[in-house]
Amino acid sequence: MSIITAEQKDKKLSKDYFSDFIGDSSVCSDLKRAIDYCYMYDFEFKQNPASPFPNRMLFYGPPGTGKSLLARLSLKYFLKKGDSKGLSPDIIYIDSSFKDKYYGESERKIRDMFSRFNSTESISMMIIDEIDTLFPSRGITSSSADFGVCGEILKSLEGILNENTYNNILISTSNMPREFLDDALVERISQKVVYLDYFESKSQYQSLAELVLNNNKIDKSLFNLESDIFQGFFNNCLSSGISQRRAKAVFEAFLFYAKDHDLSKIPDKAAPEEIRKHLYRKLSQKEEQECLDKALKASSEL
Ligand SMILES: Nc1ncnc2c1ncn2[C@@H]1O[C@H](COP(=O)(O)OP(=O)(O)OP(=O)(O)O)[C@@H](O)[C@H]1O
Ligand SMILES: [Mg+2]
Repeated sequence: MSIITAEQKDKKLSKDYFSDFIGDSSVCSDLKRAIDYCYMYDFEFKQNPASPFPNRMLFYGPPGTGKSLLARLSLKYFLKKGDSKGLSPDIIYIDSSFKDKYYGESERKIRDMFSRFNSTESISMMIIDEIDTLFPSRGITSSSADFGVCGEILKSLEGILNENTYNNILISTSNMPREFLDDALVERISQKVVYLDYFESKSQYQSLAELVLNNNKIDKSLFNLESDIFQGFFNNCLSSGISQRRAKAVFEAFLFYAKDHDLSKIPDKAAPEEIRKHLYRKLSQKEEQECLDKALKASSEL
């Protein structure tokens, strides 16, 4: 029987929960730390001995660079941490469907959401994904509905600042906070700012390809990512500034075409596991190049 201490359990938590993110690992440890601190909240005294710590974070950067991914991973870690403490945290997730869903009553809905978020009775996380499309700056919108909603969110955020009991975490994501968001809003949501950009090294694109293989449970030894073909591809991603989302899509398309090459190898009456096992085989260099070319061509139409 193995006994896992709370500390080991915490280490395992952070490792597993952020392993799908490739990039600056200090970003993940900062997020994890903020979440850990948040759970130190004392329900009896309505205060957090770990305060102050950054509990309003803004992830920003170009499309496809992992902002929503990082928000999702934080949420997973947040939920898991709550679970390990026997607590049920409150989750408030706002994305682009918010406006359509609550058309005409958005201001009331925002007040409700922030009153849940501010409650001293629970620990909560609010994620506002693509905050610029949801609450555009009052300077650039001509819609009175947007204007009202933006005013309401500013007022609600003011409330958090005045009574921050550090039992909650707000994560917002945005492509261009400075251009499209109200300065006052940016100031209130960005106690900590994380800038995510395209990968800056070839090896990060390679790690992304490895992650795709891993997540699809594909035997890594079938593809030689060190070969000239793949190294050339990773180099290209780097020099042409291809987003992580796009690079992943190309690699997934590559796998799709690679799978096609193997159909003849599948025995007629094979069991599903056997089919799975046969779906990929080691391709020749020529086949690999052919699949990658097709994948790149398909991705240009993305
Ligand atoms: N840093 C990264 N590490 C690992 N995978 C990544 C990373 N960045 C992006 N990806 C992959 O690309 C996908 C798309 O990324 P994500 O949705 O997080 O981009 P985004 O920055 O939110 O883009 P947008 O601005 O368009 O909303 C992710 O689901 C993930 O599979
Ligand atoms: Mg996103």
